[in-house]
Amino acid sequence: MTSIINNQRRKFLQNTAVAAVAAATYPSLMQAAGMGTSSKASANFHADVEIELTQKVVKIPIFNGPETGVWKVFGKVLKGSPDTVKNLANSYLAPTLNLHKGQKVRIYLKNMLPAESILHWHGLHVPSKMDGNPMYAINHGETFVYEFEILNRAGTYWYHAHTHSVTAKQVYSGLAGLIIVSDKQEQALALPRGDYDVPVVIQDRSFDKQNQLVYVSHMMQRMSGFLGDKIMINGQPDFVLPVEQRSYRLRLLNGSNSRIYKLAWDDGSPVTVIGTDGGLIEQPEKMPYVMLAPAERRELWVDFSGKAIGTELTLRSIPFEGASMHGGMMGGMGGGGMMGRGMMGGRRGGMGGRSSGSSLPLGGDYAVLKVKVLKRAKSNDSLPARLTPITPLRLRDAANANDPRTITLSMRHMSALLNGRSYKMNDIKPDEVIPLNTLQLMAFDNGYQRSMGMMTMPHPMHLHGEQFQIIKREVNPRHKAAHASVSEGLVDSGWKDTTLVMPGEKVTFLKPFNDFKGLFMYHCHNLEHEDMGMMRDFLIK
Ligand code: C2O
Ligand code: CU
Repeated sequence: MTSIINNQRRKFLQNTAVAAVAAATYPSLMQAAGMGTSSKASANFHADVEIELTQKVVKIPIFNGPETGVWKVFGKVLKGSPDTVKNLANSYLAPTLNLHKGQKVRIYLKNMLPAESILHWHGLHVPSKMDGNPMYAINHGETFVYEFEILNRAGTYWYHAHTHSVTAKQVYSGLAGLIIVSDKQEQALALPRGDYDVPVVIQDRSFDKQNQLVYVSHMMQRMSGFLGDKIMINGQPDFVLPVEQRSYRLRLLNGSNSRIYKLAWDDGSPVTVIGTDGGLIEQPEKMPYVMLAPAERRELWVDFSGKAIGTELTLRSIPFEGASMHGGMMGGMGGGGMMGRGMMGGRRGGMGGRSSGSSLPLGGDYAVLKVKVLKRAKSNDSLPARLTPITPLRLRDAANANDPRTITLSMRHMSALLNGRSYKMNDIKPDEVIPLNTLQLMAFDNGYQRSMGMMTMPHPMHLHGEQFQIIKREVNPRHKAAHASVSEGLVDSGWKDTTLVMPGEKVTFLKPFNDFKGLFMYHCHNLEHEDMGMMRDFLIK
């Protein structure tokens, strides 16, 4: 019999004093950890949809010449509509899952990889045991059964590997895909559908001369995050989106390990945002550019009806400041070591991202998505003035309105920390226990209240569980100028599960913790940082 908890994990849980203490202090912890449950489908969960996802090592044709070895998820619908799973040929991406609010979903995850692995449903509000916490990793040949109801509103979510200390490598190798949730409210809107509703997964990758993926993780790249040489769209290089002379809905996901994009149309037209991580916003927002940090989603509306046939248009990433790791390196690193200034300054004459060796520097200027207008259209959808109403969370409903839970981000001594701590499994501190069914006032502080000389860089911060709402951003005066190069592209309306926290910035938000007890992670979604330990668990009880 396979168990829901990986054998090593179980040993860890049984043998360590930490677990014993945790079990005594927080009885629900062991329950949350799923002790004693199996990987069998439960008889009292009546699934509307059943899906089998198999993780395999395969070779696929991405370029001319040798095929590329990737870790790919293959999907099969066991029960429900065949459109529930869309496998993507010639892409390393996992299949797109099309789900509807209210559906009960059972997913059989089969690991056929030469490594342990587990999948997390990013942005979905599911029980702790179904959330893909690394403690549930399964070994080759094992199956994990997920069962949950889709409680989220319509939106663009995604799923990816969340395996202890190797998430970055596993996601990079291909273990990530989209989840598109629809609901009645969204379907009632006249937004572009079908072929005119296009997912755009943006990732950067590096390949060697044999077309094989290159993932480097020396200390420098772990500190700054991996940056690839090539932008891939939906898992394909040199991607061009053919469009008709009409409007489109583009669902952007930044599925990159660490790269942050500042996206603008190269013809100078504004970017029209209609949705964020947790679905549509209340009304379209036109902005000069839009920031997209790792794991974030933005839905754009774009109208090609006024463009001549043959027009080419590009969504580019344009320069911004504050992207790279800087400040106080010597203090943090003890000076003069391999990470000294000489190395940071780099051959390319830049800092941080630029010294990573990528030919596409972070904060540089490069093409991301190319579009070509090829056909007349039969019809067009105009942009709705109102999208979907959003109930604002209220400060006065917070359980801790005068005492925000602040999560301080820091980097030092070759580590990336949250409140000075590094990730450890089952290591819940008192300030990480949150009462069930409460609204919490929280903040990410990335050097806003700190003195000169601390090492800072942007961190895309993510919390599992329910989506949150941002209430304010504050910027330390020393960082104001750099921040101004991104601030007009931050979309803080609507529901979020990930937010960019720039150097010197503090982001305050309200987050509900309803329905489910147990462990829920919070972490940096720069995947190299996550693997270095910039991750912790909350215990909801
Ligand atoms: Cu997208 Cu904890 O992850
Ligand atoms: Cu980070």
